[in-house]
Amino acid sequence: MENLPASPKSSGIMYKPQGEELDIALACFDLQFPLMLRGPTGVGKTTLVSTLAQLLNKPLVEEPCNEDTLAADLIGRNRPDGWADGSATASLRYPHGAVYYLDELGEARQDVIVVVHSLTDDRRVLPVRAHNETLQANDQWILVASYNPLYQLQNRVKPSTAQRFITIDVPHPSEDLEKMIVSNFVYSNKEQTADAEAIRAGTRRYTSNPQVPIKELVKLANDYRRMAHSADSMGIREGPGTRLVARTAKLIAYGLSPATAIEVGMINPLTYESEQQKALKDIASKLFKWG
Ligand SMILES: Nc1ncnc2c1ncn2[C@@H]1O[C@H](COP(=O)(O)OP(=O)(O)OP(=O)(O)O)[C@@H](O)[C@H]1O
Ligand SMILES: [Mg+2]
Repeated sequence: MENLPASPKSSGIMYKPQGEELDIALACFDLQFPLMLRGPTGVGKTTLVSTLAQLLNKPLVEEPCNEDTLAADLIGRNRPDGWADGSATASLRYPHGAVYYLDELGEARQDVIVVVHSLTDDRRVLPVRAHNETLQANDQWILVASYNPLYQLQNRVKPSTAQRFITIDVPHPSEDLEKMIVSNFVYSNKEQTADAEAIRAGTRRYTSNPQVPIKELVKLANDYRRMAHSADSMGIREGPGTRLVARTAKLIAYGLSPATAIEVGMINPLTYESEQQKALKDIASKLFKWG
């Protein structure tokens, strides 16, 4: 175990949710779904991930991505003194799981994306070809990625990548929440422990739902696919694949409201654009109770 990387030192600041972000993140952990956090700079994406790791009591392994990041940085490489694990490999070796965080995934090159693809479909594996090993994520391991859509050239993240993630848009906080965040930052520390307890007590609020509206979800997916192919596509490139429909259904079974599950599971992965999101919500509101 000596080779396992230490978690980056946490600032101690706990993420203050604007809505259900932490609950959804914990649901993704339980359901073994990868999570994407999307939002402008400084809205708390990194803070949310380190809070998630603290709540789960798991080590946090980070890989900040840019155009120089190589697949070998994630997988590992042979060095003169032997094999050195990459960040993904290292995160998968923790016997009790870990939070693996790919920051700025939108900047990563295709060879990195290929690695991410095998870790984010239902197999959750990492092939390490250099020594014919395939690492399998255990049920205590979660992959979280983030990117700032404002930095991405239009449509840089392909649908085949975007559709692998339950996606939370993290906007700027409301004024009241921002005052709390700033005041906490200025006067903090002694409040942090109490904060952690309060956040822990306030999360995991879902109770499972035996009645999953599968028929309506499939109808909705087909409505979205027709829209994406039509002259009124509004620029939506591709309708949702069955993976998204299945994962959305599972989020509803887990206890998320259909509206929240559809938003993070079937709408956000298709688009960041607020006009497009609104059009997709309007279609969903004909089949599901909304707002
Ligand atoms: N909801 C929040 N709860 C607690 N702290 C917050 C929140 N939003 C922002 N902050 C504070 O704002 C600062 C920046 O947050 P953070 O580094 O997590 O942003 P980020 O979204 O990861 O930004 P970037 O995209 O530039 O990496 C930190 O000091 C953080 O504590
Ligand atoms: Mg960050």
